[in-house]
Amino acid sequence: MGTWETISTSVEMTERLGEALGKVVTSGDVITLDGDLGAGKTAFTRGLARGMGLRSRVTSPTFTIVNEYNDHDGVPRLFHFDTYRLSDAEDFYAAGLDEYFQRDGVCAIEWSSVIEEALPKERIRFEIEGNGDERKITVLFPETKRNAMEELRKEMEKEGMDFADISM
Ligand SMILES: Nc1ncnc2c1ncn2[C@@H]1O[C@H](COP(=O)(O)OP(=O)(O)OP(=O)(O)O)[C@@H](O)[C@H]1O
Ligand SMILES: [Mg+2]
Repeated sequence: MGTWETISTSVEMTERLGEALGKVVTSGDVITLDGDLGAGKTAFTRGLARGMGLRSRVTSPTFTIVNEYNDHDGVPRLFHFDTYRLSDAEDFYAAGLDEYFQRDGVCAIEWSSVIEEALPKERIRFEIEGNGDERKITVLFPETKRNAMEELRKEMEKEGMDFADISM
């Protein structure tokens, strides 16, 4: 498991981080996004979709739980969840939403802590904290994703984003 910390100083920077991730994800990846209301989870996902090559504009799926983006061939689908309105993992299973983890595409899940028990162990976690324009972003990823994550890091370092490795 790798653990990094970084700081985003603007909404654009958070989107760029999502975009850099979008360039290295593959079908089957599960990305979780946690942090308070307005932390930047949807902003990050907007960048993610762009980086994946999707053209549709990402909007918050709060009322639908999951939005599917599948706008042209040759790029993975994106399943964008916002589980804020669910009570717990039982709710998630009852709605059959765990089936998305077997589907061909990338899952990005806002408020994933609500459904913690239903989440696959192998996932890339982004925890966003802070207010004003500055956000502390903690990134946790499994070793199977290390190469992809190192690529993301290199890309973002070129743009002046610093990463601290806080893995134990
Ligand atoms: N560094 C930053 N990163 C991300 N967003 C920022 C940053 N600085 C300011 N913002 C602002 O914070 C807000 C983030 O909104 P966003 O909808 O992405 O949050 P969210 O985490 O998805 O919230 P919710 O829990 O309601 O879904 C935007 O208004 C954005 O302009
Ligand atoms: Mg949101």
